[in-house]
Amino acid sequence: MFSARTAWNLEPNRLARALAARRRDGRPVLDLTDTNPLRCGIPYPDDEVRRAVAGHGRLRYDPHPRGGHDARAAVAAYATRSGLPTDADRVVLTAGTSEAYAHLFRILADPGDRVLVPQPSYPLFEHLAALGDVRTAAYPLRLTSGRWRIDLDALRDAATPDVRAVVVVNPNNPTGSGVDAEERRVLHALARERDLALLADEVFAEYAHEPGSILPRIAGAGQALTFTLGGLSKLSGLPHLKLAWILVHGPDSEVREALARLDVVTDAYLTVSTPVQEALPELIALGDGIRSAIHARVRENRVVVRDLLSNARGLDVLPSDAGWCAVLADARGRDDEAWALELLERDGVLVHPGHFYDFAEEGRLVVSLLVPQDVLREGVLRIARRAV
Ligand SMILES: Cc1ncc(COP(=O)(O)O)c(C=O)c1O
Repeated sequence: MFSARTAWNLEPNRLARALAARRRDGRPVLDLTDTNPLRCGIPYPDDEVRRAVAGHGRLRYDPHPRGGHDARAAVAAYATRSGLPTDADRVVLTAGTSEAYAHLFRILADPGDRVLVPQPSYPLFEHLAALGDVRTAAYPLRLTSGRWRIDLDALRDAATPDVRAVVVVNPNNPTGSGVDAEERRVLHALARERDLALLADEVFAEYAHEPGSILPRIAGAGQALTFTLGGLSKLSGLPHLKLAWILVHGPDSEVREALARLDVVTDAYLTVSTPVQEALPELIALGDGIRSAIHARVRENRVVVRDLLSNARGLDVLPSDAGWCAVLADARGRDDEAWALELLERDGVLVHPGHFYDFAEEGRLVVSLLVPQDVLREGVLRIARRAV
């Protein structure tokens, strides 16, 4: 009865089984994986957010495929302030970034075509691509001389004729690495040469660790067609409001064509609710304060992790420019699934093994820097104890 596309193996993995068993037995868990800012004790202007979403005027519904003009103008103004000059006409609102990916895969690729995705990175790409009948091929990021870099030769080799787009996550999750000027130049040149689009996932762009710094953006006028993804989930720490956006940059004729096709797709769904669109200018403004609180948490937690691991033999924190995670590396390259299971079963510490993010090497653990400091401190202490 059902499609082959949805014939998934729904068996929980070993870590999920161990976690469920532990919770069933009522044993405590120090969860170092939570990246939901609403659950991490970050202070929020709850009343202001509620008031903004409740709205002021009469009930209205005047749908537009790209979203209401005022909401798009607010996104364009924010993008322009943050180093990416954008016009409201080139903004398309979606209900979350996953939906943005789905729409973009729809307009760019036919069944069986490929999109290139970074490795390691955000684990959802394979799944989102498969749901759109698109395949992925990975291009590696490598840690060389203290910095994560795109392996540009491998990227060129991966750009075979069936590839339609390159996903670039800037900064990447979980490595926290930004794209530098040379990488940006090569990405645009490759996209122009092979007639590919760039999908720049910049949801974490505002979370550079260096105070006051903004990471350079991928999109640029007159270069390759580039779709930049962002959203309230990270920009304002409001994932529950389900509002994201696609910004379209590049040669005018390609931008026009892309927007016309996106209009047909978004018009078929009209998923973004009117109250959230109407609240968007205020929610972006409130985001400044929420981001400061998240930034403060991340900054303090980075220091905690670094200090606690400074004397742990064979255990390092990998370099990172931005984002909400830290990657721990075991010099002996131990099996990260076994390591994560051991931490959970013996120490009650929940972490993500690196293979969840498709790290090429063993011996990587990913921890969230949003979790409350007492939880992080105790959890990392237990990790450090096992290292010596
Ligand atoms: C790189 C990246 N893109 C997109 C998302 C999801 O964003 P949204 O909540 O808007 O769907 C995440 C979530 O962690 C992410 O890490």
